[in-house]
Amino acid sequence: MNHSETKSNTFTVTTPLYYVNDLPHIGSAYTTMAADALARFERLRGKSVLLITGTDEHGQKIQRAAEDKGMEPQVYSDKISAGFEALWQKLDIQHDRFIRTTDLRHQAIVNEFFKRVWDNGDIYLGQQKGWYCVSCEEFKEERDLLSDHYCPLHPNKQVEWRDEENYFFALSKYQNQLEALYKERPDFIQPESRRNEVLSFVAQGLQDFSISRVNVDWGFPVPVAPNHTLYVWFDALLGYVSALLDPDQEPTLENALKTWWPIKLHLIGKDILRFHAVYWPAMLMSAQLPVTDRVFGHGFLTKDGQKMGKSLGNTLDPVELVNRYGADAIRYYFLKEIEFGRDGDFNETRFVDIVNADLANDLGNLLNRTLGMVHKYCGGEVPNVKSAEIPDDNPLKAIGLELRQRTAKAYESLAFSEVAREIFTLVRACNKFIDDQAPWSLYKQKQTAELEQVLYAVLESARLAAYLLSPIIPSISTDIYQQLGFSINFNETLSRDCEMYTTHAAWGILPAHQKLKLPKPVFVRLEQA
Ligand code: MSP
Repeated sequence: MNHSETKSNTFTVTTPLYYVNDLPHIGSAYTTMAADALARFERLRGKSVLLITGTDEHGQKIQRAAEDKGMEPQVYSDKISAGFEALWQKLDIQHDRFIRTTDLRHQAIVNEFFKRVWDNGDIYLGQQKGWYCVSCEEFKEERDLLSDHYCPLHPNKQVEWRDEENYFFALSKYQNQLEALYKERPDFIQPESRRNEVLSFVAQGLQDFSISRVNVDWGFPVPVAPNHTLYVWFDALLGYVSALLDPDQEPTLENALKTWWPIKLHLIGKDILRFHAVYWPAMLMSAQLPVTDRVFGHGFLTKDGQKMGKSLGNTLDPVELVNRYGADAIRYYFLKEIEFGRDGDFNETRFVDIVNADLANDLGNLLNRTLGMVHKYCGGEVPNVKSAEIPDDNPLKAIGLELRQRTAKAYESLAFSEVAREIFTLVRACNKFIDDQAPWSLYKQKQTAELEQVLYAVLESARLAAYLLSPIIPSISTDIYQQLGFSINFNETLSRDCEMYTTHAAWGILPAHQKLKLPKPVFVRLEQA
């Protein structure tokens, strides 16, 4: 990044760092697709964006998963971590950083951070007694468990009793500061329902939590007591900081925090809200560092009402889904169909119906039939119409003029379903407009001016829809843009250019006489496997 650039133009967003106990499932892909759509939107409008993702590789859960496969944990982590990166590629995720918590540079950051917290007097030795869920890597209150000590999030896994010496982090010291943070920054935790959950959890009184283990080898040694390893969550959250280092930078906190800190947004699932909205800000306060701007906890993808998960084994294989249906269809379905923040069930029939209806019929056919008509009636180039000549109450122009603002608001609040709803209102209006205006009759009656205006308005609306949908369906948007005669590819790194956004996100910019390509379907109808 250019150093003269101000931090207000930077946008740092993170996905969780995924456990490598197993290959990614569609639940892990979900957060990453959302983060990517948002990052693409911010890049589109000229921000300097850093999208961070990666893998969380230490701890007992991973150690056991590797043992079960008869592999060394590092070898096992290498293999699974590569699976995540490969999936991100298939899903057209444009991440800027992929951090692995077994990276030695990360260890340097963890040690320096630990020292700060230690020097602040917030770490002490104590006795940890309680029920531990290895799948959650979290102690559980007995009252929260299912019968026979099964974990509510992993109903096929029993929690284990622990009674051991651990180092503790003095979370309780930060009760007042955390409460003040939530009060002063009501947007810190979103959506509102999650914020309320955190407020009521904190109001019950915070307890210190243990940050070391004596029975787990697979982790960084505690700097002051090498017979302990660091608790995986203490190490993992700091992955967000290590990820900020440039590849050739010396791994110090100062270097890591210089350009991109504080992070604008942690995107996470609701199961790990407490770590991000309570433990993490307190750790940062202890190290005297500014807290992240915003934490958004989305819902679960469920199968038959239960959280899909690697531990439960009721997951969908995203690689298989992408191979079968393509990245855009998957991205579109999950971002459009499930209101971001709520739980949502995946149903393959519904998936096929929705993407066929929206992407093949409404959007794809619109482009196809319009280009067909322009080739037939207007010599295959954008009709010579100035948008100012089209009255503001033209049904497409009226929607188009407001679309940029409406979609920006929806993207900013992570309301991806809303983004799609807004844009498809225009797309559907286009199809209706064509039916109402019947360009074929205008042609026959030689009403050329009217015909050209109708076709211009529709082409321009299809262009705008494609542009604003590009963070969600980049390949389809690229196809549409190229058929409309532009050379832009939304899957390549676009030069950051606010002017381009100002122009392209507005209605009425399609240049007259621009040569159009022959129509080719941008989305081939899916058949359910
Ligand atoms: N390693 C921790 C995160 C550390 S962040 C510093 C972790 N990993 S995880 O692989 O178990 O989960 C990663 C994310 O995937 C979480 O946000 C979790 O909510 C999300 N999901 C896992 N299963 C999911 C669904 N079935 N549906 C939606 N998201 C799900 O937790």
